[in-house]
Amino acid sequence: MERRSPGSLSAAFWITAFHVASSYASPILSPLDLSHLDTKLKGVPLELSSLFLTDSLRSLNGTASRCKVYPGDQTWPSDEAWAKLDGLTDNRLLIQPQPQAAVCYPGLAYDADKCSEITATWGRSYEHMDDPIEMMSPVAQGMTCLPPNVFDSHNCTRGGFPMYVINATEPKHIQLGVNFARNTNVRLVVKNTGHDFLGKSGGKDALSIWTHHFKNITFIEEYSDEKLGYSGPAFKAGAGVQAFEIYKAASEKGRVVVGGEGETVGIFGGYIQGGGHSPLTSLYGTGADQVLSYDVVTAAGEFVTANSTSYPDLFWALRGGGGSTFGVVTSVTVKAHPEMPTTASRFSFTSEKVGNATFWAGIRAYVDYFIPNADAGTYAYFVLIPDISTGIFTFSMSPFFAPNKTLEETKALLQPWFTRLDDLGIAFDPNVTYFNSFYEAWRSSFPLEIVQKINVTTGSRLFPRCNFETEEKREELYRNLRESSENNRVQVHFNMKAVDPANADNAVNPAWRQNILFSQQAVRWPVNGTAEETLKIRQEFQAGDMQRWRDISPGAGSYLAESDRLEPNFGQAFWGSKYPRLLQLKAKWDPKDVFYATTGVGSERWTVESADGLPNENGKLCRAG
Ligand SMILES: Cc1cc2nc3c(=O)[nH]c(=O)nc-3n(C[C@H](O)[C@H](O)[C@H](O)COP(=O)(O)OP(=O)(O)OC[C@H]3O[C@@H](n4cnc5c(N)ncnc54)[C@H](O)[C@@H]3O)c2cc1C
Ligand SMILES: *[C@@H]1O[C@H](CO)[C@@H](O)[C@H](O)[C@H]1NC(C)=O
Ligand SMILES: *[C@@H]1O[C@H](CO)[C@@H](O)[C@H](O)[C@H]1NC(C)=O
Ligand SMILES: *[C@@H]1O[C@H](CO)[C@@H](O)[C@H](O)[C@H]1NC(C)=O
Ligand SMILES: *[C@@H]1O[C@H](CO)[C@@H](O)[C@H](O)[C@H]1NC(C)=O
Ligand SMILES: *[C@@H]1O[C@H](CO)[C@@H](O)[C@H](O)[C@H]1NC(C)=O
Ligand SMILES: *[C@@H]1O[C@H](CO)[C@@H](O)[C@H](O)[C@H]1NC(C)=O
Ligand SMILES: *[C@@H]1O[C@H](CO)[C@@H](O)[C@H](O)[C@H]1NC(C)=O
Ligand SMILES: *[C@@H]1O[C@H](CO)[C@@H](O)[C@H](O)[C@H]1NC(C)=O
Ligand SMILES: *[C@@H]1O[C@H](CO)[C@@H](O)[C@H](O)[C@H]1NC(C)=O
Ligand SMILES: *[C@@H]1O[C@H](CO)[C@@H](O)[C@H](O)[C@H]1NC(C)=O
Repeated sequence: MERRSPGSLSAAFWITAFHVASSYASPILSPLDLSHLDTKLKGVPLELSSLFLTDSLRSLNGTASRCKVYPGDQTWPSDEAWAKLDGLTDNRLLIQPQPQAAVCYPGLAYDADKCSEITATWGRSYEHMDDPIEMMSPVAQGMTCLPPNVFDSHNCTRGGFPMYVINATEPKHIQLGVNFARNTNVRLVVKNTGHDFLGKSGGKDALSIWTHHFKNITFIEEYSDEKLGYSGPAFKAGAGVQAFEIYKAASEKGRVVVGGEGETVGIFGGYIQGGGHSPLTSLYGTGADQVLSYDVVTAAGEFVTANSTSYPDLFWALRGGGGSTFGVVTSVTVKAHPEMPTTASRFSFTSEKVGNATFWAGIRAYVDYFIPNADAGTYAYFVLIPDISTGIFTFSMSPFFAPNKTLEETKALLQPWFTRLDDLGIAFDPNVTYFNSFYEAWRSSFPLEIVQKINVTTGSRLFPRCNFETEEKREELYRNLRESSENNRVQVHFNMKAVDPANADNAVNPAWRQNILFSQQAVRWPVNGTAEETLKIRQEFQAGDMQRWRDISPGAGSYLAESDRLEPNFGQAFWGSKYPRLLQLKAKWDPKDVFYATTGVGSERWTVESADGLPNENGKLCRAG
């Protein structure tokens, strides 16, 4: 909005504000309820009230200041302004929510019993997902407040945690937050569950919009979109709906929805906007491929529907372009597929009894079946764990997942590899189990993964089909996985392919379409090392083990939600040939960089100047260079 001389708001002013907001483009679901604001802002000076106004997209221009605005800066909003934000958002503004581990540190909220309670369950996502600020990666937060028995932070400071949080339950709350951040230049972050590996839901002294309580789920019997070539049932889910919630709701309707394996992941926030892989991806594609429509608050503060006919370019970007970049999603409509029986199997073996050569021959044999297994529509989630102290390697399948397959079909797929393991004398006990539904199979097959690791980051690679097409290439890939194990990397692999049945034109990384093996490896460092030592280890990991993986898969990519903040050339890695268009759409939909996420589209323009020089959120967000 154009600023006028200070004064109180006139009716004519509001009419103008409304007109500007609604004239830009037609289907604005619900512009800010200005009549309601009018009452609340009666008598409030224009300088203050204008902080809350929706911009016309055309008047958005970047500001020149080097950093976002922080406490202590002259232009940091006044207490009165924050109080106004609180009032306008129905008193849903949380002020300096305490880190959970504050109960462990004297001087804050010290409580020894509570401290031992949270310490005991610290690695469980369930203990963090309902928290307004907590992120599952303390490494990305800056390690400033952990339970001392997990990691001694010596002190409990806010570090990379935001300062204010809007506990949003209505689009209006989000519109006000976005407007306030854009008009004040305070750093804005968006948090859903906090699962992101890179900590993209955090930001020091930021204003955070928390989408976790958008929990509505509606079943739509018949949704039809000619352009997308879809006609059938759908679910409309709030941005805060998590895997365990949508899978249950879908199952109750005799349906399945494409979501992640991890039970607490926020399916309709970061997961789906970033692409999202699933136990159903070899059958139905990525999470983003399922999207029929988004409701979203734009950087201008407008609340719009993005679908194949309404803002199709925004719709394109939101399907794979990544969270916290183009807008704040409030709900997502996705395809609902028929429920199906599923067969799953978990088993493991180690090198302890058979020795290294035989163990690795068993792994090498498995690599021969990655293409046929993915082509058969299955998904295998397995880990390779080295133990440096004993020299023993462990392989663990957890699980091999065969949606829509009978017990016999699944056993037939696994048999060729199992026969070779038997011939090698590797003992293992595959419990192949048939379930009547995807839902039951999912519930009993996947472990609840540990979060809050203190000295780990993960790099990842989407290994394409050509890495498995010849004996030579399979041998090369196998040698590289083995070398990573020998270098003490814990590896997590997903053998699947991201089919594209609807020939979806969206922003999903094209590297997914070639994928046969999505591989992660983790680097660990001594917890008591200096920041310089840690940074060196992390850089060597990127230049070493990760670079080897890149070298054998030229032109392939990495997955933006399960990756490392130090991934080089991340635009190419996360989006490949789609990156140039995404940059254009970022400039169109968020020219002021209201939204930022590390390694997000357009994030090259910014950098977090962290307190310890490590890649984390504990510092000001400033222009790069
Ligand atoms: C234990 C575990 C299991 C996992 N399993 C899988 C899996 O099976 N498949 C898979 O693909 N990934 C998986 N992931 C990765 C997961 O997809 C990402 O962590 C994803 O970012 C989670 O989204 P979130 O909204 O829950 O998390 P958050 O960390 O809260 O958000 C992630 C990003 O999205 C942004 N964002 C969140 N909500 C919104 C919104 N409403 N509008 C705009 N931006 C938003 C945030 O700002 C942030 O940048 C797993 C991660 C963990 C820790
Ligand atoms: C925005 O920037 C452009 C190019 O610098 C300029 O032409 C335009 O007048 C600016 N608009 C506003 C509203 O400041
Ligand atoms: C703890 O934090 C406070 C406030 O930031 C600071 O003054 C103090 O020096 C810190 N103490 C230690 C031991 O780091
Ligand atoms: C956030 O809002 C929800 C829904 O009103 C409420 O249940 C929850 O307690 C709130 N959380 C916090 C931390 O205020
Ligand atoms: C959620 O559903 C309830 C009941 O149908 C409705 O009143 C509410 O407005 C919905 N909330 C959102 C954010 O859609
Ligand atoms: C897309 O959204 C607009 C605005 O809500 C709506 O009018 C239109 O019917 C939707 N398109 C489809 C294909 O559903
Ligand atoms: C297996 O390899 C590991 C790592 O290379 C080594 O430490 C260990 O001693 C080897 N075990 C045997 C039995 O040779
Ligand atoms: C699941 O199996 C049934 C029966 O074999 C088949 O008709 C259906 O197409 C399969 N679904 C998928 C998604 O492959
Ligand atoms: C096999 O797995 C199923 C499902 O997880 C479980 O119920 C069953 O007890 C297991 N059987 C054995 C012998 O471990
Ligand atoms: C990382 O931290 C874990 C847990 O404290 C510890 O067991 C492990 O030894 C650490 N790793 C390294 C390389 O120090
Ligand atoms: C870190 O801890 C290890 C094992 O506890 C110890 O050997 C090493 O000297 C410590 N390093 C520093 C820098 O304190």
